[in-house]
Amino acid sequence: MDQGTPKRSYRRHFIIVSLLVAVVAIISTIGLRAMPKFPRASTQALTVDWLYDLHLVVIGFLFALVMVFMLYSLFVFRRKPGEDGDGDHFEGNTKLEIVWTVLPLIIVLAFGVIGAVTLKDVTAAQEDEMTVNVTAFSFGWQFDYPDLGVEKATTLNLPVGQPVLFKLKSLDQDVIHSFYVVEFRVKQDLVPGVPTQLRVTPNVEGAYKVRCNELCGTGHTNMLADVNIVNQTDFDAWVVEQKAAFSPERLAALGQELHASQGCIACHNVTGDPGGVGPTWKGLYGAQREFADGSTGVADEEYLRSSILASQERIVAGYAAVMPQNYADVLSDQQVQAIIEYIKTLQ
Ligand code: CUA
Repeated sequence: MDQGTPKRSYRRHFIIVSLLVAVVAIISTIGLRAMPKFPRASTQALTVDWLYDLHLVVIGFLFALVMVFMLYSLFVFRRKPGEDGDGDHFEGNTKLEIVWTVLPLIIVLAFGVIGAVTLKDVTAAQEDEMTVNVTAFSFGWQFDYPDLGVEKATTLNLPVGQPVLFKLKSLDQDVIHSFYVVEFRVKQDLVPGVPTQLRVTPNVEGAYKVRCNELCGTGHTNMLADVNIVNQTDFDAWVVEQKAAFSPERLAALGQELHASQGCIACHNVTGDPGGVGPTWKGLYGAQREFADGSTGVADEEYLRSSILASQERIVAGYAAVMPQNYADVLSDQQVQAIIEYIKTLQ
């Protein structure tokens, strides 16, 4: 047999397969990159998507490499009618083994470096960052803006173009949650006792959602909060509105409503009449109290709060321990504060 023929025929297969791999790789990559993505709404998202797209190129190439070689072999080298001998025997190929070891090594190392650079990029501190403290609990979110005096917001409002430093925590007795806005592309766990942080510069106005990204319990799927990226004017207006909602005057007015709607009024009058089921609220704030166990104390905020949430701990002398024990479940922190602010006005 002519020694040159098999070699020439292998080269022909090699050229055909190489061309096919190139074509399939390009088509696969185009197809993968054409798949719909969530819109982007942060500068970090652009960097993350760039890295993601780079992965798609490698995935497209590897897919083509495996599929083309496999399918080509299946069809071109299948046994033809009349062929019943053994196939050719190969002793291995050192050159090929070096190539398929070194090439993936280079690709993996390159992605390691690119990944590290990208991580440094998306976590880099920005100038004029606005701090937002994010508190996660089962199952909800709370946002505090220490620079602006906004507390306990239930929606995350951010001005477009403003770099934000999120300081994240989960309540001490709670579980791990994860802060994720898919349009921001970056996410971070919130771990009880371990403060974490995340940087985002929102750059597209719109309405988005924080979704908890850590399976945390029965309420996990509903652990959402609205995110509003708005212009600076709208944001400033929102800040004013949030502050007003927590002003003592607004809270006191809410407290007065709760006094009636939550039934406090049934036992606690506001007229100063000492004959009620429970102590009157008039003149209560700041007054000296005598308790059933003989101890005394001043009716300050802490006392009022514990009297609402754990009323059995200190019973005022002369009254029965009949107050319901479920106000920690019934009332929000804001509502408890509102009742306290209302009592303060009853001097
Ligand atoms: Cu919190 Cu899932």
